[in-house]
Amino acid sequence: AVAAMKSPASALRHHRGGFIVWFTGLSGAGKTTLSRALEPILRAERPVEILDGDEVRTYLSKGLGFSREDRDTNIRRIGYVARLLARNGAAVVTAAISPYAATRDEVRALAEQDGVPFVEVFASAAIEALAARDPKGLYRKALAGEIANFTGVSDPYEAPASPDVVAKSDAETVDRSLARIVSHLQARGLLAAGRAEARAS
Ligand code: ADX
Repeated sequence: AVAAMKSPASALRHHRGGFIVWFTGLSGAGKTTLSRALEPILRAERPVEILDGDEVRTYLSKGLGFSREDRDTNIRRIGYVARLLARNGAAVVTAAISPYAATRDEVRALAEQDGVPFVEVFASAAIEALAARDPKGLYRKALAGEIANFTGVSDPYEAPASPDVVAKSDAETVDRSLARIVSHLQARGLLAAGRAEARAS
């Protein structure tokens, strides 16, 4: 009887195959690009939702800033929504900097408690490469001291100790990174094998 009182979600063992692909990395390191590239591949098998940092901060997290407390609140909200979607069968891709390892680990643990597989992808790039490209002009401003607490310049970024996949956007093509992510999802049984179109030659 006690077991039957548990939330309905915890009784669902497979969650209709939903899972979370959690990108982490500095601004401009490729999180958004890779999540958009991954979307059609995932959508061939199940519903997909992307929770992108910039978009989340426009709606779900409007008003939050970039203190550690506000970033953690942002990440916990993203993790919460990601779990709700994933346990109903969606492939959820998140693309926020998520700079703090402990907070990422917390979100991962909550997902796994819910039986939702969690894949951490580290979008890795040297700060020099990001500052050279700088499409939003934010690194230039941060390096000039015009943006306080800018991740990687004047605010910490804690790289994952053991990410499931590393995508090196300063050293490999999007297709190559995508192929590595797809292979990992296939190896975990989250994506059917044999989807070759994303593979780099
Ligand atoms: S997180 O730390 O809470 O995960 P999130 O991914 O939502 O960050 O937002 C990062 C985006 O906000 C960056 O891509 C950049 O465009 C913008 N931004 C504005 N100020 C900052 C800042 N101080 N540090 C990092 N990103 C910032």
